[in-house]
Amino acid sequence: MYICMITFNDRDDVNSELFQKLKLRVNWFMVLIIISAVFTSYCLLLLLFALIQVALGEQLDLHWLHKIFLFFGVIFVVAGVTTVIFEWKGEWPTVPLSLQATAPFLQFGAVGALMLLSPFVFQSIKNAKTGSKFLIGGVFLILSAAIFLWPLFIRSPCLKEPQELPKKPKLIGHRGAPMLAPENTIMAFNSSITCNVTAFETDVQVSKDRIPFLMHDHGADFLLRTTDVKEKFSGQHFNDSTNLTFEEVHRLNAGDWFLKTDPFDSVSMLSEEEKERARSQTVPSLLQLLSLAREHTIKVIFDLKSSTKENKKQDTVDIVNTILNSSIDQSLIFWLPDQKEYVSKSAPGFIHVYKNEEDMRKYNGSCLNMKYNELEMEKIRNLREENVTVNLYVVNERWLFSLLWCAGVSSVTTNSCHLLKDVDYPDWVMAPSTYLLIWVLVDIVALFIMIGLFLFWKKYGCCDEDVRRNNTPACNEKELQPLSPKVP
Ligand SMILES: *[C@@H]1O[C@H](CO)[C@@H](O)[C@H](O)[C@H]1NC(C)=O
Ligand SMILES: *[C@@H]1O[C@H](CO)[C@@H](O)[C@H](O)[C@H]1NC(C)=O
Repeated sequence: MYICMITFNDRDDVNSELFQKLKLRVNWFMVLIIISAVFTSYCLLLLLFALIQVALGEQLDLHWLHKIFLFFGVIFVVAGVTTVIFEWKGEWPTVPLSLQATAPFLQFGAVGALMLLSPFVFQSIKNAKTGSKFLIGGVFLILSAAIFLWPLFIRSPCLKEPQELPKKPKLIGHRGAPMLAPENTIMAFNSSITCNVTAFETDVQVSKDRIPFLMHDHGADFLLRTTDVKEKFSGQHFNDSTNLTFEEVHRLNAGDWFLKTDPFDSVSMLSEEEKERARSQTVPSLLQLLSLAREHTIKVIFDLKSSTKENKKQDTVDIVNTILNSSIDQSLIFWLPDQKEYVSKSAPGFIHVYKNEEDMRKYNGSCLNMKYNELEMEKIRNLREENVTVNLYVVNERWLFSLLWCAGVSSVTTNSCHLLKDVDYPDWVMAPSTYLLIWVLVDIVALFIMIGLFLFWKKYGCCDEDVRRNNTPACNEKELQPLSPKVP
C-alpha cells in the first residue's frame, strides 16, 4: 500500500508500460491500489480482533479460511515488491526517496505502535518459558532500540532552518497541461499558461513534407493512442512520422480520445465549453507552438522522436531552420536532443540542456534535465551551489514537489501545474534542532510509559491464562509469587 501511494506520482508511466506488455488498456494502477487497499484493511481488522482477543485473555485461533487468504496476500505482496525491484528499476529509488518526506512521521507512528504493543509483549514474556522469555524480550528490546534511535539516521532536505528554504521551483507543463486538455494540443499549452508555467515541454517529429509537428507516441504506437487515425485511415498502419504529410496529420482529431478515455480522471473538472473545445483539437505544428511561446515569452523544451540516426540528423536541420525562421528569441529555446555541435554552430543562442551530469561537464554546460529519482538530494544542493539549473521530471504529487522544493531544484516538469501552482509552502520544513528536541522528547515519554507499563504488569499482570478465563479476580497472593518455569 505504501509503495502504491508513493508511486502514484508515476501512475501514468506504470499504466502505459503495463498496457504495452498486456495489450489491454485498463487503469492497471487503480486495480493494484484497490487490491492493496482491500488486503491492507483486511489485515488491519484481523490484527485489531487479535489484539482485542488477547486483551480479553482469549486463546488466539485463526480460521483456516483466513490462513488461506493471508497466504495469497503474502504471495501478492512478495510478487508486487519483486516486480517493482526487478522489472521497474526506475521506480524503486522512489521508495527510499519518499522516506525523506515521511520518515519523521513514520517514526512517531512506530513509537506509538510500540507503546500499544508493549503490554501484550510483557504479558507473553510473563507467561513464557524461560528460554522464550529471553528470546521475546531480546527481540523486543532490539526492535525498540531501532525505532527509538531511527531519527539518528534520517536525512531530509526539509530538515533545515525555514529561513534557508530555497525559492519555489518553477513549473514546466509536461505536454501542456495534460489533465486539463488533450496532451500536446494548443488547448493544452494555453491551459498551462494559466498555471504560469515558464516553459512548454513537448515532443517533436517531422512529417513526409518535412514539417515538424507535436506528437509523443512513435514507432509502432504512432498516432494510435491520441488520434482517430484508425477511423480516418482504416486498414492502414503507420509506424513512422514520414508516412504522412503534415496536412494529413493535421486532419486527424487529437482531442476525442481524451474525453473518451479520461486518462487522468480529470474530464469532470472541465466545463461544457471546454469539453467542446477539447473535442475539436488537432495535432499542432511546432511553428504554431513557437508563435504561442513567442507571444507569451515562454520557453520551449522538447524531445526529438526520430526513428533512426540518419533521420535524426535531417530532422535536426529542419527543426533548427523552423525555429530560426519563426523569429522567436533564441534564448527561449532549451535544446535537449543530441547534435549539440551542429546546433551550437547554426543557432548559438539556444540554451543546451543535458540528460546527465557527465555530458553536461563534457560540453561545459549548466542545465540538467533528469528523472526526479535519479539525483540524490545532496547532489541537487551541490549542483545548485554551482549555479547549475536543475529541472526534474515528471513531478505531479504535492509531497514530492515539497521535497524537491526543500532540496532547491530550479524547476519541475509536471502534469498537474494547476495543483502545484497553488502550493505556497512545502508540506513541512523543520529546523534540525527543533526536530531533535521533538524526537528525543517523544522517545523519552514513550520510554517512561513503557517502563511504567512493564512494572505495572510485573506487579499486577495476570500470570496464568486459566485464572483469567475463569474470571477469578486478577491476582491473589499466590500468583504474585515468581512464576516457576513449569507453569504452562
Ligand atoms: C512508413 O515508413 C516506414 C519507414 O520509411 C516504411 O518502412 C513503412 O512501409 C511506411 N508505412 C506506410 C504504411 O507507408
Ligand atoms: C552563482 O551565482 C551567484 C549569484 O549570481 C554568485 O554570487 C555565485 O558566485 C555563483 N556561484 C558560482 C559557483 O559560480
